[in-house]
Amino acid sequence: KKIFVFNGPNLNLLGRREPAVYGHETLDDLERRCRDEGARLGVEVDCRQSNHEGQLVDWLHEAGQAVRAGSALGVVLNAAAYTHTSVALHDAIKGAAVPVIELHLSNVHAREAFRHHSYIAPAARGCIVGLGIKGYLLAIQALLD
Ligand code: DQA
Repeated sequence: KKIFVFNGPNLNLLGRREPAVYGHETLDDLERRCRDEGARLGVEVDCRQSNHEGQLVDWLHEAGQAVRAGSALGVVLNAAAYTHTSVALHDAIKGAAVPVIELHLSNVHAREAFRHHSYIAPAARGCIVGLGIKGYLLAIQALLD
């Protein structure tokens, strides 16, 4: 079985982007730590990043099919800024009936008001915010349970 980790816009800049908020580790570091956690727990972790909303929609549909086929458990989704704007991602999660854990590196509730609303949260199984990369590892554990 596999678990998908989808990262949205600007997360390719991790490590260089506002390090005071997002830390010094890069997307490569993040993905390696997720794959290592999967290896430790005996599950394959398929990590992808896109700056494009429609690509994330297509990947959520693919993940839903994999879950229905019995080859995947669900998705850890950091939709980044699309969290706060995207009805399309909300509808994709519902439409694909895919178990999603919403993830944010930073504590979005302690930041600007425009980050307080999430279109992902009402469609997600659960949400982890503010715990940095550790949050992804906890989300992988939760999808396995
Ligand atoms: C983020 C929080 C979002 O508000 C922001 O747009 C991001 C990253 C996080 O991981 O903390 O790009 O999803």
